[in-house]
Amino acid sequence: MREVTVDINEKQKTSYPIFIGENLIEKADEYLQKYCKASKYFIITNEKINNLWGNKLNIENSEKFIIPDGEKYKNYETLISILDKASELKLDRKSAFVAFGGGVIGDITGFAASIYRRGVNFVQIPTTLLAQVDSSVGGKTAVNNSYGKNLIGTFYQPKLVLADTKTLTTLDERQLKTGFAEVVKYAFIEKTCDCGNFNFLDFLSNNILEIKKLNLYYINEIVEISCKLKAGVVNKDEKENGLRAILNLGHTYGHALEKCSEYNIFTHGEAVAIGLQVCFDLSFALSLIDENYYNKATELINLFEFNLPEHPYYSPDKIISAMKFDKKVKDGKIIFILPTKEGEVKIFDNIDKNILHNVLL
Ligand SMILES: NC(=O)c1ccc[n+]([C@@H]2O[C@H](COP(=O)([O-])OP(=O)(O)OC[C@H]3O[C@@H](n4cnc5c(N)ncnc54)[C@H](O)[C@@H]3O)[C@@H](O)[C@H]2O)c1
Ligand SMILES: [Zn+2]
Repeated sequence: MREVTVDINEKQKTSYPIFIGENLIEKADEYLQKYCKASKYFIITNEKINNLWGNKLNIENSEKFIIPDGEKYKNYETLISILDKASELKLDRKSAFVAFGGGVIGDITGFAASIYRRGVNFVQIPTTLLAQVDSSVGGKTAVNNSYGKNLIGTFYQPKLVLADTKTLTTLDERQLKTGFAEVVKYAFIEKTCDCGNFNFLDFLSNNILEIKKLNLYYINEIVEISCKLKAGVVNKDEKENGLRAILNLGHTYGHALEKCSEYNIFTHGEAVAIGLQVCFDLSFALSLIDENYYNKATELINLFEFNLPEHPYYSPDKIISAMKFDKKVKDGKIIFILPTKEGEVKIFDNIDKNILHNVLL
């Protein structure tokens, strides 16, 4: 069992552990007693996860609430149903919410916990690779509304994250790859995160076969390194005033592609995987990186075989106008996180329009 600590450098000094390993959900009670004692535990999950893994998660003194599965249910209606159920159960301020599922469950449960009775404790038990390496770490909570994704939410840190990598064995290939895209992203920002030397890029390249076979020794290692890198960034910049933006490598293009395809062709990770390649193409075109690193990075992206679904051609103009809708746009300028050296990235807001246009052709 591995442990990573999130230690946020704000006045309130929030600190909590992330435990990573196999068969952790069976011991959830022990962890809860130690890190998040509560008058009652309110578990939020969906039917699919509950059918697959619910019988392993036996938390004493708990109530379970099933919400519908899917991003489209990360909305006000589901949020209200969670809050109303908590009220109906008369959960008090000492109760704790438990998010048992992927990023959708984590985001909405965290948000509900942050506003129920002005905030009750909450715990993340992430069951997708994306949730284990990304969304369960760092305290961003959210729901979507008709104006866009994640527009309504809070920064609210859990008391504990239990990442049971055994649960990843029931994910389908597409869901796994969506997590791998974020993992590859960490390899490209490792040095800028400035919180340890993991040689993550080489680790991923050298062990690709075992990783793709979902050998859990390697998966545990990957989840641990990813959490350390994300925690390292969040510890320095919880509310995304600066450094945290580097976690969006590949996302300027990725989000634009998701928007152009109306969120129903690509998974988030597939869009990010293309976005990562676009960043390397752009950096190379701008002479920010040499050919060696360009080839090494491209090779790693290819090793994961993100196999994109059939999709229409999106013109540079269409992509660029979608990019301008992104929350990261500042004064009408598109923000790009671009590689500058192996494992290093910088934030740019003045990319040459012609070069950008040519790369997107
Ligand atoms: N808060 C953050 O910092 C942050 C970061 C990145 C993404 N997100 C959010 O995360 C969400 C995406 O998360 P996701 O990719 O986990 O999607 P998801 O939560 O929709 O899960 C994907 C699918 O996998 C199923 N599933 C979950 N665990 C499973 C398991 N062990 N076996 C089989 N199936 C399982 C789910 O029921 C769902 O159908 C988005 O809403 C995104 O906005 C948040
Ligand atoms: Zn992402």
